[in-house]
Amino acid sequence: MIGIFDSGLGGLTVMKELIKALPNEDIIYFGDTARVPYGNKSAETVIRYSMEISQFLIEHEIKLLVVACNTASAYALNHIQNEVDIPVVGVIDPGAFRAVMITENQNLAVLGTTATINSGAYQSAILSYCPGAEVWTIPCPLFVPLVEENFLYHEATKLIIREYLSPLQDKQIDTVLLGCTHYPMMKTLIQEELGAHVNIVDSASSCAQKVSDLLNDENLLNEKRSSEYRFYVSDDPVKFQQAGSQFLGLPIGLVTHVDELTTPKEVKSITTFC
Ligand code: DGL
Repeated sequence: MIGIFDSGLGGLTVMKELIKALPNEDIIYFGDTARVPYGNKSAETVIRYSMEISQFLIEHEIKLLVVACNTASAYALNHIQNEVDIPVVGVIDPGAFRAVMITENQNLAVLGTTATINSGAYQSAILSYCPGAEVWTIPCPLFVPLVEENFLYHEATKLIIREYLSPLQDKQIDTVLLGCTHYPMMKTLIQEELGAHVNIVDSASSCAQKVSDLLNDENLLNEKRSSEYRFYVSDDPVKFQQAGSQFLGLPIGLVTHVDELTTPKEVKSITTFC
């Protein structure tokens, strides 16, 4: 069983890529829908939430943990890795590595939540692989609500994309990294704005590739041919079930509501809705 978590729905874009790369794996997903967004919260809060959820997933006997949320990867990955004894994979490093592999002129841009951009995590990861790179970073705080409101092909969304990306116009950027779970849903519009000559890298597929390589290398792949997906959320399970299938690209079955995640060692009460 692979455990994966996000601040809410967005991590389903990462789960979608995991399913593509590893169709035989069982996956348990936790969406912290009661406390989303993480992207405007302090590092301390994001770390605390991430530790609570990791503990919850570890109790479900997972063999590997994926931190699908970019903001949680930026602030909490090291903390989680220090606390648990299974492999923990975030989205920042795989995304940065892929972007560095793809760029030809070492002029890159990263789009993310305000917290992710402020952390400097993508910038450091890119520079660790390519010290000479020029990295432009842009916080895009309106993208998440636009995706959540399903404003994907709306004129307002196009205008906001144009506004956010305008500082890149004269920068000769050849690669743009989508550093947020929600942004793959806007990839077509972002590509239209940037033009076909700009590469767009999303951290979701890069992360799935890293998980697949890791399970292969460690001989941890599931041998059986069927897979089971379980979903847990901290807010309304029905809303998650309805909205989530667009992110996952598959219908979502049973979603379980977790009432409280406050004590790291113990999940106080779990109620199941259908
Ligand atoms: N999942 C978050 C991320 O990838 C976006 C939504 C949020 O702000 O919580 O950074």
